[in-house]
Amino acid sequence: MSNQKESWGSRTGLILAMAGNAVGLGNFLRFPVQAVQNGGGGFILPYLICFVLMGIPLLFVEWSIGRYGGISGNHSTPYILDSMSKKKIWKYIGVFGIFTNIAVVAYYTYIESWTFMYVLHTLLGSFTGMSKEEISFFFDNYVNLSGSDFGIPLLPLVVYILVLGVNVYILSTGLGGIEKVAKIGMPLLILFGIILAVRGWTMGTSFASNEFPDANAWDGINFLWTPQYSSLADPKVWLAAAGQIFFTLSVGMGSIQCYASYIKENEDIALNSVTAGFTNEFVEVLLGSAIVIPIAAGFLGIDWVLENAGFGMAFQTMPYLFQQWGTTFGIIAGVCWFGLLFFAGITSSLAMGTPWMGFMKDEFGWGKVKGAVSFGIVALLMGVPTVLFYKYGYFDEYDYWAGTVSLVVFALLETILFAWIFGMDKGWVEINRGADIRIPSIYKWIMKYVTPVLLLLVFISALFTPEGNDWAGAIASFTDGRLYSLDPSALISKLTHEDIKLALSLSPEQGEYLEKKMFYSSLARIQLLLLFLGIVGIVWYSSVKRKKSSLS
Ligand code: PHE
Repeated sequence: MSNQKESWGSRTGLILAMAGNAVGLGNFLRFPVQAVQNGGGGFILPYLICFVLMGIPLLFVEWSIGRYGGISGNHSTPYILDSMSKKKIWKYIGVFGIFTNIAVVAYYTYIESWTFMYVLHTLLGSFTGMSKEEISFFFDNYVNLSGSDFGIPLLPLVVYILVLGVNVYILSTGLGGIEKVAKIGMPLLILFGIILAVRGWTMGTSFASNEFPDANAWDGINFLWTPQYSSLADPKVWLAAAGQIFFTLSVGMGSIQCYASYIKENEDIALNSVTAGFTNEFVEVLLGSAIVIPIAAGFLGIDWVLENAGFGMAFQTMPYLFQQWGTTFGIIAGVCWFGLLFFAGITSSLAMGTPWMGFMKDEFGWGKVKGAVSFGIVALLMGVPTVLFYKYGYFDEYDYWAGTVSLVVFALLETILFAWIFGMDKGWVEINRGADIRIPSIYKWIMKYVTPVLLLLVFISALFTPEGNDWAGAIASFTDGRLYSLDPSALISKLTHEDIKLALSLSPEQGEYLEKKMFYSSLARIQLLLLFLGIVGIVWYSSVKRKKSSLS
């Protein structure tokens, strides 16, 4: 273990880095889509409740276990958790906190590389004069959605490696480099976001066209901000809301704990964690909802948005819409949009590199360069197939298991460790040591009872989602003592590829594609499993090493 202590340069630097960790592609790409798909105004309320009852408590938990672990020289979750309990199992549960980051960074940097390319193309004027279809095809073509199996998407691969390389380079400069990027990236991103949001909000109906006479940006805003209470009874909406809260706050990942382990022993975490969390919510709820949806509704109408909400909007629709604002402002808007995405992405992907580097340094004394480069290599090995087999859902498989399921599992386990094994009384002292605010004491109770129960509920309902998401029916038959049938999207059904099998039976003409999809999805799972086991192996090896050195 090293005795030279690394720590954050300043409080502003820490908060910006933590906010940069949280503010990411999820705020601008994932949030609007989730909101639209789950009923707009019906989504916001469950979302905010999840923020208060799961998000904030998890931030407290992760910041405090991180700082606690850092005091004894541990900077990644295996040994941070290990330092909180006598049971050996916790260091292996801590594997999640390295695993998830590497699996997510593998595809996350791929999207980051698209945003980089799209900034370039905007500046080069590549989209000028292209039709809507052409711009949409441009994307399909880039990621090889339309190409043949053997067409290796060379350019995307090269750009991906380049962007990963930029990450590795910044990581090799340590916390100082991360702080610097956050200090530049965060304000710029907010500025870009405000420019686009203001333009979006002031569009009104002025861009309605013959093709879309009802286009109205305000419809987009109203759709999101008119609360609908009926959704409160729909577990599907709650699941989506909880999933979004996890992803956007970066909780359940291991990167917050790692960042927090570089905070000094008596430095505030209560106020800092809440500040970073609220910054993320400000960006997500105010800016994330004020760009894609109002702008798309302003040009194409809200009905179009409801039908087409998805990942494609950002890359396939936006570049076309920006042109309708004229050449100059079109270019400005394009640079703002893709630039914003790039900064949001990179401040998050950097965070995902740190748990691995922290671990390698603590256990094997690897320096920054060695740590960063080795991280880059592992990420690349995980990432290349997501580039090559993007069209067969390799990417989605990672996003589901690592970017969604793992977060909930790990968050649940660490909350139990913190509130029940480490103990809530001790935990409360940890959170409040050096605190600059007084946290309402009701949170002590929320963290002990409400948060773990909610997490458990989220996990169980994802495991056993009933057919057609019909929870009312499922609960009724369950109380009658009958089992209900599962939806193909339930975690249990996904394990056996029920979702793909169903698609196969519905559209046999897509047989060849779906068969391949099933194959690649299994391959992706094997790869994820190998990654997990590989890290388990490293942790085991390190524990043997620790034992030896404590004996000698
Ligand atoms: N919170 C980031 C986002 O919204 C994603 C992320 C997850 C970043 C985990 C770091 C760690 O995009």
